[in-house]
Amino acid sequence: MRKFAAALAAAATLYSFAAGAQAYPERTITVVVPFSAGGPTDTVTRLVAEAMSKDLGQQIIVENVGGAGGTLGAGRVAQADPDGYTLLLHHIGMATSATLYRKLAYDTLNSFEYVGLVTEVPMTIVGRKDLEPTDLKGLVDYAKANKDTVTVANAGIGAASHLCGMLFMSAIGTPLVTVPYKGTGPAMTDLLGGQVDIMCDQSTNTTKQIQGGTIKAYAVTSAERLDVLPDVSTTTEAGLPEVQVGIWHGLYAPKGTPAEVTERLSKSLQVALKDPNVVARFAELGTKPSSEADATPAALKARLEGEIARWKPIIEAAGQYAD
Ligand code: MLT
Repeated sequence: MRKFAAALAAAATLYSFAAGAQAYPERTITVVVPFSAGGPTDTVTRLVAEAMSKDLGQQIIVENVGGAGGTLGAGRVAQADPDGYTLLLHHIGMATSATLYRKLAYDTLNSFEYVGLVTEVPMTIVGRKDLEPTDLKGLVDYAKANKDTVTVANAGIGAASHLCGMLFMSAIGTPLVTVPYKGTGPAMTDLLGGQVDIMCDQSTNTTKQIQGGTIKAYAVTSAERLDVLPDVSTTTEAGLPEVQVGIWHGLYAPKGTPAEVTERLSKSLQVALKDPNVVARFAELGTKPSSEADATPAALKARLEGEIARWKPIIEAAGQYAD
């Protein structure tokens, strides 16, 4: 009798879950950004969340959970109920942290379900407005000559800014003093104020400041120059081809989230990435939305797996790990 009752209870739970999945979403959804408000990941997420909210007919709120290069926020979502009401929008740091951190509160490839790729953002090497060098070669010479005093802002080990800074320091063969923040939103505040010297950050956070002349731009890390920053050379043009990186972003849900839910979210993400406001704002900030084919669970899974394998030897060669 007890076995029958247990089977009945399990079936009832399964039914209510499945029924819930069919009616999804029935209430407000939270998307966790694993960095401070006002930074590039926050900017991308709020634009996409606004468009997905219209499509899903439910409010989507953004929760900023910064710290440890994005791994605290990722861990928060890994522990959340797998019901589709807590999501994570994270970037390349999801892949690099798998090597950088020997102890993570989650298993990168087994703690999440995939919704889809969102965008791939180029990075910019920037400096405070009154920094002496006027071009990338000058910056390299200046950094080497002042290696014990030049400060490089980043958003912690595992952040995109950390990865780009690591590539830059490896390329010039000179370790510099790094200053970690909970996101490059607050780091930008200090760069604008002259409290920190340089940063490698996403164009979604630097384009407006560069165009406004409030910070100096030394290079972009994309293969081609950006339409929005036509006078800024690429790192390859400026003699640092090793510093070439694009910051891809993905949308995730906790492991166990029903496939009907992640598929519904993927369809909504695809609609959002075609939203005229999203397309226009992304273009103004030097990036563009992922394609419909990339805004799918399979595409994000493949990208994450490939990027973990790609960055592992590069990180091991640099020897920079989180303790
Ligand atoms: C942010 O949103 O603050 C950035 O993504 C931080 C980083 O990854 O550098």
